[in-house]
Amino acid sequence: MQNNISKILDKLPFACISIAKNKKVLYFNYEAKKKFIFLKENIKIDNIIESEELNEKIDNSFATNKENNINFTPLNFQDSFFDANMVFLENDKKELTIFFTDESLKRGYEKMRTDFIANVSHELRTPLSSIIASVETIQNNANNDKTAQIKFLESMGKQAWRMSRLVEDLLTLSKIESDDKELHFESINVADLVQGVVDNLYNKADKKNIKIRIIKNTDKLNVKADYDAMMQVFINLLDNAINYSKENSNITINFDEETNNDKLYLKISITDEGDGIEKKYINRITQRFYRVDKNRSRMQGGTGLGLAIVKHIIQRHQGELDIKSKVGIGSTFSALFPSQENIKIL
Ligand SMILES: Nc1ncnc2c1ncn2[C@@H]1O[C@H](COP(=O)(O)OP(=O)(O)OP(=O)(O)O)[C@@H](O)[C@H]1O
Ligand SMILES: [Mg+2]
Repeated sequence: MQNNISKILDKLPFACISIAKNKKVLYFNYEAKKKFIFLKENIKIDNIIESEELNEKIDNSFATNKENNINFTPLNFQDSFFDANMVFLENDKKELTIFFTDESLKRGYEKMRTDFIANVSHELRTPLSSIIASVETIQNNANNDKTAQIKFLESMGKQAWRMSRLVEDLLTLSKIESDDKELHFESINVADLVQGVVDNLYNKADKKNIKIRIIKNTDKLNVKADYDAMMQVFINLLDNAINYSKENSNITINFDEETNNDKLYLKISITDEGDGIEKKYINRITQRFYRVDKNRSRMQGGTGLGLAIVKHIIQRHQGELDIKSKVGIGSTFSALFPSQENIKIL
């Protein structure tokens, strides 16, 4: 390869490797060495990038003088997805130069998008099929049976409610994620707000004979926050604590101060005595639609969006969500918000 060409290729932001007909490497640029660390001159390219498809296209290019282009995942880079463009830079066509662009990130986002659509469709389809089945039963078999009609109508109502919750949650999440939702920050006493949430969910907890205790270890209970969004955070966290707890157990809500990087935070922790969550799932439960036990959550009308919403709301408040859990002992979900004591009033 001519010196001036290799100088240009060295400056490219993507990997580029030139090979001879026998597939031995003649040249590689800086980015290629960074990506394929075992790369050296004269090594065969299939020892560096294992791919049948790539090999075939290289052979084809040399055989036909055609400049090929493929997308592939090498056997030795299973998480990657490359786009390879093959070019003859010299007229004698003895040297094939391959430009590799790593499309993995783009593909990752694409996968996230398609997974999301698949999840939404699936979650909508389940209650919808049940509604359709109920309508058909009423029309056909339960035509004159008032009791059966009431039963099926009840079930339809429940499923329709589930769909409507799913759509509401999706809208909330999409607004919160995209910064579209304007938050109205005001000074809020979080202890008062949480007390309201506890009162709201009292009956649900009482049905399982779950006792809720509140312990305040600080009097700095004010934060600058959006009232409705904060309500959503604590309704979701307390609702989960009740849902995933045994009967006759306790839930404790602690208010503490915590200093992090010289900044004061109000930490509200909700501790339950439920089944707990295995360590490997802890990072995943805040992902959209992720549920450790899908059937159990579904039976309780869950959509798997609650914690994703909670996490985003807390992030929009420059706060943090911390999850600690021990299987068989219980879980603690802590929401940390910058304390209003940090805000200097001018
Ligand atoms: N306190 C808890 N104890 C044990 N597991 C929990 C707890 N909170 C959440 N989880 C697990 O995390 C999963 C995700 O919770 P999330 O609140 O996002 O969804 P959900 O409760 O299934 O449905 P919903 O959208 O109605 O809240 C739950 O399905 C459950 O497996
Ligand atoms: Mg939930």
